Amino acid sequence: MRGIKIGVLGLGTVGSGVVRLLRDHQAKISSITGCQLEIKTIVVHNLNKQRNVDLTGIELTDQFTKILNDPEIKIVVEVMGTVETAKNYVEQLLQAGKHIITANKDLIATYGAELAELARANGCDLFYEASVAGGIPILRTIVNSFAADRIVEVKGIVNGTTNYILTQMSQQQVSFSAALKAAQDLGFAEPDPTNDVEGIDAAYKMVILTQFAFGMNISMKQLKISGISDVKLADIQQAKELGYNIKLLGIAKLIDDRVDVSVGPVLVPKDQPLAAVQNENNAVLVTGAAVGETMFYGPGAGELPTANSVLSDIIAVAKDIVLETTGSRFNDFQRDLKQARPAD
Ligand code: HSE
Repeated sequence: MRGIKIGVLGLGTVGSGVVRLLRDHQAKISSITGCQLEIKTIVVHNLNKQRNVDLTGIELTDQFTKILNDPEIKIVVEVMGTVETAKNYVEQLLQAGKHIITANKDLIATYGAELAELARANGCDLFYEASVAGGIPILRTIVNSFAADRIVEVKGIVNGTTNYILTQMSQQQVSFSAALKAAQDLGFAEPDPTNDVEGIDAAYKMVILTQFAFGMNISMKQLKISGISDVKLADIQQAKELGYNIKLLGIAKLIDDRVDVSVGPVLVPKDQPLAAVQNENNAVLVTGAAVGETMFYGPGAGELPTANSVLSDIIAVAKDIVLETTGSRFNDFQRDLKQARPAD
């Protein structure tokens, strides 16, 4: 059976999950893809750090060029989490003809269009299912299952950390900072949790969802963004007494040929499905003109859920390599995006 070697940039929560899942499901993945996928090299910042994952047969290095210059490595998974360094690395890797999978929503929301163009020019795949809603396979679902529909609204809880914080504050009556600390300890939060609590992380995801749902590029500057750092325990309790849960929602609506995209805390009536989404779980409601309202629910963060989405991308790239169909589809979709006209 043909072998395909993988390089990984970063061995934090998601990177470790990718190593674990690929090992655990090697045989099934081989039978689906028709090839033997193997992680050859992982680039880490700290070579001496104790790792809680079986790295037998994998080379750990702090040299990015070990992956860049290795002709055997065809697929690279970027799970480092920075933007500018990741962009620089991804550009070099695409120019070297390597297929890229990333969980980095900041990177894709900011530079997705130009990276897709570079991927296309080099005949590479660039996939990022894990960048939105962690373990929920929402991007491929929108592309494949709504192709014959016109999506009019995408709304949901797309940040696990803030949903965890709001759930803990509501149910355990703990302070905002205690709940944030717990989310960080569980590995949900971004390296800088400001991005989570101020709605920036959710906004990046809404930029990507707007691209997929409406075929439109919207810049972060065009979004209305507010976070939950001003939400007090008293606000949550008062909302509960009135029959609401406070949730950080991302909402993207099509209004004629314009879009209205926002992120902010919303009072959600307790009998609505989004009000029942707890802890780090996410949920995305997609409303199509034909199908009506659909809801996709699942873990929005965490090691194995996010790693599973990365693996779904690895499998998609491997199939493309075997079928010789790399460098199309998602990249063409990115190229065809129109600049969004925000609603007034
Ligand atoms: N910090 C993010 C969240 C991780 O809490 O949702 C997954 O994107």
